[in-house]
Amino acid sequence: MSSLVPLPAHVRTADGSLPLDGLSVVAGPSEEEQRLAAVARHLLGLGAPAGDRPALVLALDDAAGPGGAASPERYSLEVSGAGAALTAPTTEGLFRGIATLAQLSTVDGEGRAVLPAVVVKDAPRYPWRGLSLDVARHFFEPDVVERVIDVMARYKLSVLHLHLTDDQGWRLELPSRRLLTEISGKGEIGDGVGGFYTMDEFRRLQEYAAARYVQVVPEFDMPGHTNAATHAYGELVPGGQPTDRFGGEEVGFSKLSFDLPETEPFLRDVFGDIAAATLGEYVHIGGDEVFTLGVEEYSRFVLLAHDVVTAAGKKVVGWQEIAEVELPADTVVQYWETRKDTAPLRRAVAGGAKILLSPADRVYLDMKYDADDARGQDWGASMPPIELRDAYDWEPDAAVEGVDPDAVVGVEAAIWSERIPDEHTLFMRLLPRLAAVAEVAWTPVDARSWEGFAARVARESTGWRDRGLTFHESPGVDWA
Ligand code: ACM
Repeated sequence: MSSLVPLPAHVRTADGSLPLDGLSVVAGPSEEEQRLAAVARHLLGLGAPAGDRPALVLALDDAAGPGGAASPERYSLEVSGAGAALTAPTTEGLFRGIATLAQLSTVDGEGRAVLPAVVVKDAPRYPWRGLSLDVARHFFEPDVVERVIDVMARYKLSVLHLHLTDDQGWRLELPSRRLLTEISGKGEIGDGVGGFYTMDEFRRLQEYAAARYVQVVPEFDMPGHTNAATHAYGELVPGGQPTDRFGGEEVGFSKLSFDLPETEPFLRDVFGDIAAATLGEYVHIGGDEVFTLGVEEYSRFVLLAHDVVTAAGKKVVGWQEIAEVELPADTVVQYWETRKDTAPLRRAVAGGAKILLSPADRVYLDMKYDADDARGQDWGASMPPIELRDAYDWEPDAAVEGVDPDAVVGVEAAIWSERIPDEHTLFMRLLPRLAAVAEVAWTPVDARSWEGFAARVARESTGWRDRGLTFHESPGVDWA
């Protein structure tokens, strides 16, 4: 199957094709099924249905998907010259199947828009197929994030993690702490103006994502990476003087102090507001790169954040470093630092934690593509560049030695924006590597091969060009 990314678990081509001209779309009566019918019409570019023409039928059916698959995102699709049937146990599964239909549509030898005849039975390898987007170092307006979400939906990604706070800026307005955005919403690395999302914009962004079955996970990074907070609220540092604005790239110098009287109320307000504004299940508490706090003080931060988030009814995810703390069961620990000892991760998993895989040497999509890529991120000799094939050719089960594969919830790409000042650069970094990570997270490992992926992803560039999305022409792919 020449056109599908990520490759479905099972796909079999058949003879013939279904012309799109006059095709009608039939779906169940619920509001969401009717909306999905409209989404399918739009993505397939369908015109007016003709009464005598075949139909694409969308239907809810628990029996859909590969035998034995339990994922709510599973679906079955059958296309022949006589019509097409898409079934799934949930509307989420129908949406994933519609993404497959959109990629299948093509033009036949006679110039007609068609769906090739095919049988697909599909389900994702992991439920968490994510992208972490840093909007703190450089800010991206909601319309840019929407275009990122559109690309995510095409590749069946399910989680958009927004890194909303860091030393350089605070990007989410909070009712209880207005100064965070009034003061630290301005500015970013370099001389850009920065910006922030109002509560209303954040809600609309989450709704835009949810309509594409993408869950937004907001992150307040603490107790390090906190200069934007201490720049707005001087009472968070000893002496009470707000810290200076920071527009550089260094990390690890900022921190909160647990014993100051204003710290705990601040954390309760901030995590409380963020949890209340979150439509999805998770809040990210950060926890990375805290170089100047003892383990005891660090633990108090992590456990307090954990308490506030869970008391607000959300689940907790945090960066790898939180595995140093004795964590409540079900905490999601996000692995990133491939140069560090992973013993704390194994201990955390033994205690009931789950692992989200973001190995920096595979899925940090701000990294250089190759040694000559002057504007890409570069961590020096300890971290090689990441070409498309590096982002593709790795096996999640082997990423953290000694961790039970059942503890892995998924794979999340990350893109840090220190060197990403605009949308053009953002997409040039994401594409094509994001498509590779999406396939790692969706497709069963025995169905994957670099050669197969390289042939399939080549065709995607036509759509990227049509939509004005920049991409890097990675070697080893015969770009369309
Ligand atoms: C990280 O890259 N500091 C999570």
